[in-house]
Amino acid sequence: MTSPESPERASIDEIRALQLDRLRWSVRHAYQNVEHYRRSFDARGAHPDDLRQLADLAQFPFLIKQDFRDHYPFGLFAVPREKVVRVHASSGTTGRPTVVGYTAKDIESWADLVARSIRAAGGRPGQIVHIAYGYGLFTGGLGAHYGAERLGCTVIPMSGGQTERQAQLIRDLRPDIIMVTPSYALNIAEELARQGTDPRDCSLSIGILGAEPWTEDMRRRVESALGIEAVDIYGLSEVMGPGVACECVATKDGPVIWEDHFYPEIIDPDTGAVLPEGEEGELVLTSLTKEALPVIRYRTRDLTRLLPPTACSMRRISRITGRTDDMLIIRGVNIFPSQIEELILRTPGLAPHYRLEVARVSHLDALTVHVESAGETHSSDDSRRRAASDLAHNLKSYVGISVKVEVHLPGSIERSIGKAKRLIDLRKS
Ligand code: DLL
Repeated sequence: MTSPESPERASIDEIRALQLDRLRWSVRHAYQNVEHYRRSFDARGAHPDDLRQLADLAQFPFLIKQDFRDHYPFGLFAVPREKVVRVHASSGTTGRPTVVGYTAKDIESWADLVARSIRAAGGRPGQIVHIAYGYGLFTGGLGAHYGAERLGCTVIPMSGGQTERQAQLIRDLRPDIIMVTPSYALNIAEELARQGTDPRDCSLSIGILGAEPWTEDMRRRVESALGIEAVDIYGLSEVMGPGVACECVATKDGPVIWEDHFYPEIIDPDTGAVLPEGEEGELVLTSLTKEALPVIRYRTRDLTRLLPPTACSMRRISRITGRTDDMLIIRGVNIFPSQIEELILRTPGLAPHYRLEVARVSHLDALTVHVESAGETHSSDDSRRRAASDLAHNLKSYVGISVKVEVHLPGSIERSIGKAKRLIDLRKS
C-alpha cells in the first residue's frame, strides 16, 4: 500500500487508485480472518479476487448492526484478541452493546484522522482544546483526545457533565477550541452567562461539533451564542468513532469523508441498490485500512448525499438529515426531528431547546412538541401562546402535519450533557 504524504491534496485519480489498492487489501483481510465475512461472501458468490474496480464492491453483502450483536463480543475481530489494544462500546437501547476494537496501528490512524479533522476545522498545533465529549466506552472523548494530542495541542480532558465546572475551566484556562455536541455547546453557553461571563467574549474561536443531528439554523445559533466558527464532525463507533469525516472551516459545506481510509456509497434504504452520486439515501461505509475490525459495506442508517470535492480532493456528505430509524410517521406523513428543529429555530420567540413526544391516541400517532420560549421578553402567556400557534401553523404548512405545541418557560426543558435525547416515544411505554 502506498501512502501519499498529504492525502487531502492528492488528485482524485490518485485517491481512487489508492482506494482500490486498499479496498482489495481490506476485503481480503476480512474474508481471510473473519468467519462471518467468509460465510456471507461465499453465500453471495462474491470473492475478493472479483474486485477489479471500485464499483465491484456493490456485489458484496452488507454488514448491519445486528451482525455486531450476533457476534458479540469479539466475533467480528480480524486479529487475535491480544493484538487489540483498546475496545469501545455503544450502550444500545436494547440488548447487547456493540463492541468495537482497535490495534495499535488502528489507534494511530484514528489519531491521524482526528488531527486532520481539527486542522480542517482551523485548529493549529499549540492551541488549547477543551474536550466535552464523554470519555469512556463512548468513542467521542478518547477519539478527540488522541487526535488533539497528535496535532500538538494542549488538551483539557473535561468529558461530559459537570457543566458549572466546564464553564469555570473555559473562563480560567482560556481554550481556543471546544469539541462537544451542538446541544451541549448551547448548555455550556447558558452556564457561562449564568456565571456572569458574556459567552461571546469567551476565549473559544472554534467548535468541532457532532455526534448528533443538527441543522444549519442550529449552527448559526451556536456560532452566535459562543462567538465561534462551528464545524460539523461525523463518525460512528462501528466504523471508527469521530473523524470519519469533518468539515473544512473555509467552506463549511458538509463533512469531507477521509477517503484514503473509508470508501462511501449511498444506497436506497428499501432496495439496497447503489444510487447515483448526488442522490439522497443511506450512507454505507467500507473501511480501507482497519486491522482489528474491518467493516465491509456497513449500513450506517444515516441519510445523506455524496457531494463533489471542494476544499480538498475528497468527496463530502451533506448534513445528515436523520437516521432511517428516527423517522416518524405522523398520520401518514414522514418526518424527521431535524425538520422540526429547523422550524423551531425560525419561529420568533422560541429557544433551541425542545423535546418531541409521540403517543398513540385512538389508534393514530400524535406528536406533541415541547419547546421553550426565548428568554423573559418572550415568556408572557400571550407571547407563548402566539409562538405556539405560529410553530403549529408552520409545521402544518411546511411539513403537512398537525401537532400540538406547548411553549414552556425558559429553563424548563431538560438540558443534555452529551447527545440530546429529543424523542420520547410513549407508544413503547
Ligand atoms: O457519535 C462518534 C462521534 C463522536 C462523532 C463525537 C462525532 C463527534 P456513535 O455513538 O456510534 O458515535 O453514534 C454514531 O451518531 O451514526 C449518526 O447517526 C450520529 N452522528 C454522529 N456524528 C454526526 C453528525 C459517535 N455530525 C451516530 N451529524 C451516527 C449528525 C451524527 N449525526
